Amino acid sequence: MNRSRLRFALFGCGGFGREFARYILEVADLPAISDPDPGARRAFAAALKRTFNEYDNADALLANEDIDAVAITTANFAHKSTAIAAANAGKHVYCEKPMANSVPDCWEMVRACEKAGVRLMVGHKRRLRPAWARMIELTKELGPVIAITSCQYYDARPYNLSGWWTRAAESGGLLDIAEVHILDWMRAMCGDIDSVRAISPPQLDARFDFPDTIHVELRFRSEAVASLNVSMAYPLLKFRESGGPLVICRNGGMRFVPSLDYLDLYWQRSEDKEPHHERFDLGFDQAFRKEIGDFVNWVARGEEPCLTWKEGLRCVEGMEAAHRSAAQNGAVIPLPLYPELDNSNS
Ligand SMILES: NC(=O)c1ccc[n+]([C@@H]2O[C@H](COP(=O)([O-])OP(=O)(O)OC[C@H]3O[C@@H](n4cnc5c(N)ncnc54)[C@H](O)[C@@H]3O)[C@@H](O)[C@H]2O)c1
Repeated sequence: MNRSRLRFALFGCGGFGREFARYILEVADLPAISDPDPGARRAFAAALKRTFNEYDNADALLANEDIDAVAITTANFAHKSTAIAAANAGKHVYCEKPMANSVPDCWEMVRACEKAGVRLMVGHKRRLRPAWARMIELTKELGPVIAITSCQYYDARPYNLSGWWTRAAESGGLLDIAEVHILDWMRAMCGDIDSVRAISPPQLDARFDFPDTIHVELRFRSEAVASLNVSMAYPLLKFRESGGPLVICRNGGMRFVPSLDYLDLYWQRSEDKEPHHERFDLGFDQAFRKEIGDFVNWVARGEEPCLTWKEGLRCVEGMEAAHRSAAQNGAVIPLPLYPELDNSNS
């Protein structure tokens, strides 16, 4: 790459796009943005205190801007079409989680990027936040994971979710909007998923066109098992306070207690009398910087990144399998979900 800083365009100027753009600007240039909503573009420029070349659609931006890469922070339903348009224009692609709303859509993105010879990374920040990364590291000390349970019960009412967030065809469904993160982290702890089973009780929050509670059981190829219980209808906790996992390892265990301001990790070897205690700050900065920094270094210098598209695709596969199982009253769904789309080196 013969520029000193990569040039990005960002697609999707909503709440998260505004947050993520700050980290892009630390390591790259960002001359152009695209969002069909002029209000979102205005709010974006105001929040970043800059002007941008503004577009209301991807094709016009890609035809007119001299850029190397795109960051996709659109609503979930637009990830696939934006990534494919960018790849076809020869641009490297960074895409927010969830990668897309179905596994076949993910594969279309992968094939378009492979054909164009461009990089494709999906942003799974949770496993990069220091407290969560520490648990992955501790499996070296405590031995392989035997079982994990995580309960992401929280109150979605204050989040004022509307529009695409409430419709499964546009968002992907409950796990896609409420619990991509812990599923990806569970994969980082346990490896590839072997099978998935899920059930949903009656729905409470009528804003959504999908069940707002789901209980998921995962079996991994390592023989570890995990349960991931998610609800947006639990009045006692906020999103960031919920979901702290309990982990059983072959030679010990971990207990993770999140709160709004810091994260407490307790861990213990089987032979220890007392647990060790480590306190972490929330760690968003470290994760965002690691991710975008790695993407830039991957594109500019070919350095091995912390994430590619593979984590994104496998996470979508786990969520799609869970939603399918819940719709079939708890049927066991073996993975891969679409063996005909899989290839041996993925
Ligand atoms: N990694 C994380 O921690 C994290 C956190 C929050 C959101 N996200 C992800 O970021 C994405 C955006 O979330 P958000 O909270 O900003 O949602 P949002 O609803 O606030 O914003 C979405 C924006 O996308 C725009 N959009 C829709 N179609 C588009 C298209 N074709 N081209 C360009 N823009 C388009 C909408 O107009 C809107 O401004 C989602 O995929 C979400 O899952 C990730």
